[in-house]
Amino acid sequence: MKAFVLRSYGSPDKLELSDIDQPVPADDEVLVRVRATCVNPYDWHHMRGEPYVARLLPGLGLRGPSLSILGCDMAGRVEAVGRDVTEFRPGDDVYALLREGGFAEYVSVREDLLAPKPKNLSYEQAAAVPMAALTAWVGLSEVGRLQPGQRVLVNGASGGVGTFAVQIARALGATVTGVCSTRNVELVRSLGADEVIDYTTEDFTRSGRRYDLLLDNAGSRSVSACRRVLTPKGTFVAVGGQAGRWLQPAGHAFSALAVAPLVSQRMVLADAVGCTEKKRHLTTLTEFIEDGRITPVIDRRYPFEEIPAAVRYQEAGHAPGKVVVTV
Ligand SMILES: NC(=O)c1ccc[n+]([C@@H]2O[C@H](COP(=O)([O-])OP(=O)(O)OC[C@H]3O[C@@H](n4cnc5c(N)ncnc54)[C@H](OP(=O)(O)O)[C@@H]3O)[C@@H](O)[C@H]2O)c1
Repeated sequence: MKAFVLRSYGSPDKLELSDIDQPVPADDEVLVRVRATCVNPYDWHHMRGEPYVARLLPGLGLRGPSLSILGCDMAGRVEAVGRDVTEFRPGDDVYALLREGGFAEYVSVREDLLAPKPKNLSYEQAAAVPMAALTAWVGLSEVGRLQPGQRVLVNGASGGVGTFAVQIARALGATVTGVCSTRNVELVRSLGADEVIDYTTEDFTRSGRRYDLLLDNAGSRSVSACRRVLTPKGTFVAVGGQAGRWLQPAGHAFSALAVAPLVSQRMVLADAVGCTEKKRHLTTLTEFIEDGRITPVIDRRYPFEEIPAAVRYQEAGHAPGKVVVTV
């Protein structure tokens, strides 16, 4: 099969289109013909081995990549199943959030990670969902414990996570303020934001308004500045931030967690990849998608051979919505 293989850390040029053996599913695994995948910051952090501090943690390898085939979003069709698999059969359409393997024609996935693909989405639209929507869901609903009627601010409202977060917060009955740049203001409004702050002309941390929950995808303001706009019992959810070589965006999350014992607000982290209930959350998201409450926003589509170009574009950090790849 064709796959983009990463043998050493570096730029998107390190992703080598290769012919490798098709994976063989274990007893509890499903072999999926990948039809679409998506590019996420997770991919290029692994590709570059940055921030360096992350090489000291489980996940990235210290000297070289721990993952050889990137691509954590996947939508496709079941090709074969292991002998213990009960829920899926060849021909079923599925999607999943993986740790690796989406930048390939086939991937073997544990049954307990797969969910049926939303019936009203194409493969490309479905592949846009897992990482970004699950992160938004975990941040708002699980760790954020969002309640109807609460006021939410989404910093970085126009990217992959943000476009889902605005829609999910609205669907959960919150009043939503989105922060993005001028060219994306109308997009964020169209997704249901009650108010949009253009960060090029206004600093949301100086608005004087107060929020019950701040979902921080952008990490553009310090944690202490963000706390200023939270109610005394409000919740700060660290999702991501500005990419750096040594520390960021991990440093932004560390600083939120470090002050947690000292402040009245809740300081929590959304972790989609480490989440142990991916299938349950994806199944909930499927319901929201099939009844029309949320829909993926796709910025660009690339053919499989152009994955390095897709990664380069996503890495620039200003894609409005998701960057998908047809496999
Ligand atoms: N914790 C987890 O499990 C998890 C999962 C997924 C992603 N993440 C992290 O979350 C972050 C967002 O991911 P993503 O997939 O949404 O990335 P993305 O699609 O590249 O979106 C980033 C967004 O940030 C916005 N932005 C840039 N500078 C900003 C600023 N100064 N103020 C406000 N917004 C700004 C951009 O909007 P404009 O174009 O309008 O500037 C862009 O839409 C990344 O750091 C990623 O690593 C974490």
